[in-house]
Amino acid sequence: MFRTRWLWLMCAVLATADCGGAVLGADAAAANSAHAPTKLSFRYRVPQPTHYTDWPAIRSRFSTDPALTARVRKIVASMSLAQKIGQMTQAEIKSITPAQVRKYYIGSVLNGGGSWPGGNKHASIGDWLALADAYYDASMATDAAVKVPIIWGTDAVHGDNNVFGATLFPHNIGLGAAHDPALIEAIGAATARAVRATGIEWAFAPTLAVAQNARWGRTYESFSSEGPLVRAYARAYVTGLQGSFGDHNVMATAKHFIGDGATDHGIDQGNATVSRADMINVHGAGYFGAIAAGAQSVMASYSSWDDVADGVDYGKMSGARALLTGALKDKMGFDGFVVSDWNAIGQLPGCTNASCPQAINAGIDMVMVPDDWKAFIANTTRQVRDGEIPLARIDDAVSRIIRAKLRMGLFGTRPSQRAGAGDASALQDRALARRAVRESLVLLKNNRQALPLKAGMKILVVGKSADSLPDQVGGWSLTWQGTDNTNADFPHGETILAALRAADGAANVTYSATAQGIDLAPFDAIVAVIGEAPYAETRGDILPSATLRHSDRYPEDLAVLQTVAKGHKPVVTVFVAGRPLYVNRLLNLSDAFVAAWLPGTEGAGVTDVLFAAKSAAGRYNFRGTLARPWPGVPCPDAGAGNAKARPWLFAPGYGLRYPGQHAIGTLPTYPAVHACASAAQATAADANALSERSAGAPVRRSRPLPAHNRLDAL
Ligand code: GLC
Repeated sequence: MFRTRWLWLMCAVLATADCGGAVLGADAAAANSAHAPTKLSFRYRVPQPTHYTDWPAIRSRFSTDPALTARVRKIVASMSLAQKIGQMTQAEIKSITPAQVRKYYIGSVLNGGGSWPGGNKHASIGDWLALADAYYDASMATDAAVKVPIIWGTDAVHGDNNVFGATLFPHNIGLGAAHDPALIEAIGAATARAVRATGIEWAFAPTLAVAQNARWGRTYESFSSEGPLVRAYARAYVTGLQGSFGDHNVMATAKHFIGDGATDHGIDQGNATVSRADMINVHGAGYFGAIAAGAQSVMASYSSWDDVADGVDYGKMSGARALLTGALKDKMGFDGFVVSDWNAIGQLPGCTNASCPQAINAGIDMVMVPDDWKAFIANTTRQVRDGEIPLARIDDAVSRIIRAKLRMGLFGTRPSQRAGAGDASALQDRALARRAVRESLVLLKNNRQALPLKAGMKILVVGKSADSLPDQVGGWSLTWQGTDNTNADFPHGETILAALRAADGAANVTYSATAQGIDLAPFDAIVAVIGEAPYAETRGDILPSATLRHSDRYPEDLAVLQTVAKGHKPVVTVFVAGRPLYVNRLLNLSDAFVAAWLPGTEGAGVTDVLFAAKSAAGRYNFRGTLARPWPGVPCPDAGAGNAKARPWLFAPGYGLRYPGQHAIGTLPTYPAVHACASAAQATAADANALSERSAGAPVRRSRPLPAHNRLDAL
């Protein structure tokens, strides 16, 4: 029996209801209840899709407070132009010292992916806190009439993932499969506790992309391809992060506004050509939830929107006044501030990384200018003086930033004086992360009752991802790309192999990545842990010409399954990847197939369910269901070679359970399809893809693109 959509909707409506299907024993929700929030902020439900014809007015949980407004006005009135423009400037910690923060009245700093105090990947919580204090003290030592504290932003997008030793939760694509907003609130709260313990007050999360095309390198940052679930999750995540702006809370960021997951061919930073109705009701859904929950910041998207149907080309979001101001602020009522993305202003026509009056006039309130912040301040000051940027726009931007900082309670307490500061235990929430892993797993196939495994079985474990925490955690993990890491970089993590040994007894488990030369006869079962190597953003894009066939990029994963299939033992495949991919040949070679997404540091969450381990309330069972469709052809978004076939193998809502009787027959493998366009079409499509996303944008990092991402690799 697999779950149909109406059933998961019912589950979501009754957030604590048994959403676990036929659990062997008692209520699944209870079985997955470790660290469930004691008191939910809302009775979460997944709303119905909307059909707005214009941007809707959304009431924030933080209504405007006249006393706060008066205080903001008084502070802004006391500020010089230099202090105002400094307040709108966000610099990277590698390029600015505390002394410069004081001298230039800087309002914010960030650490980008792969940036740590002193450039030390293993920086301690004390190192983070000391630097946070240094920046705070500098901001409070200016000669301004009213000292405005700095705010530090960080990409804590699946736990406090930049910090050595932190628990890393499953990435959003796995959390979407859990269909559990209550879990999401708990993860938001746990992430906020961890971030605040390092002295940082702002998380650039949640990503609210409603990703439509799995070619996108950021698909794993998207909860779902369906707006309503993203809307419910946005409200839950923002509520968990911001709470009531206490010492254990951080400011949330709804990102990337708008349409980051809507681009043609899933091109990162590309161009969306969706209708106005879809942009509002599908891609806007997350912002309805985030604004209702009182999100205090929104990050503008790198992507563009050309509303072809209506004949309106809005261009790059960072300069789209109709959206940043007209839609988000004026119509939807967002009263926080809008921050631009990393050097995103440099992608606008006529702009550079250090100069872009168009972006500020469009509604960007804080500019993420990681390196060129000095020139930005000088240019923007001149542009105000020359009248290119009205002073009223500057005052509005600064007012928004200061109102958010006042709401956050940043005035008056140093980072290290706040409750929980420096508490290294706040970086860990292994039980909650383990629960999240359990709830995120989706069982796609289970022929011959290959699952559950039984403790004591002789198990051969194969596959490159079985003993790899870097593969489990994916991108945005200590480093930006999630590369250049080893298991030792995640000292509290547990690989799926280690978890199998713990669950089954180390003596019963043998590991061979390739299974080469292994006699399969003595084993009762084979567990193959395969999938994608880590990536982030553009580097994860699959070009329009390439197929979505996983083994086209990772032939070793097909080879190892072909090797173990010869043993005629039950083969359980665990697929660790940032997106659904075309894997029919791998499915045909597996008796059971589990989509594990990017589960994070807690590998035991996988084995809890593989073994249907005992829990306080019965035995664990699969409960995850797909939150986006699963490809059934190599080119689901293009007709090449398989135009007549249904593009999708499994629809959203699909997910198997124990102890149902499941039998999936042999699936088509389209051996002749190795490209999703003819050679000529491919070159044109790929050249367009590469030009789309880097139109005017200096490539952010200089490292060469991986083969599947390069035109010359065709
Ligand atoms: C990146 C991402 C954004 C992130 C920012 C800061 O380019 O687009 O999600 O928050 O830069 O690291």
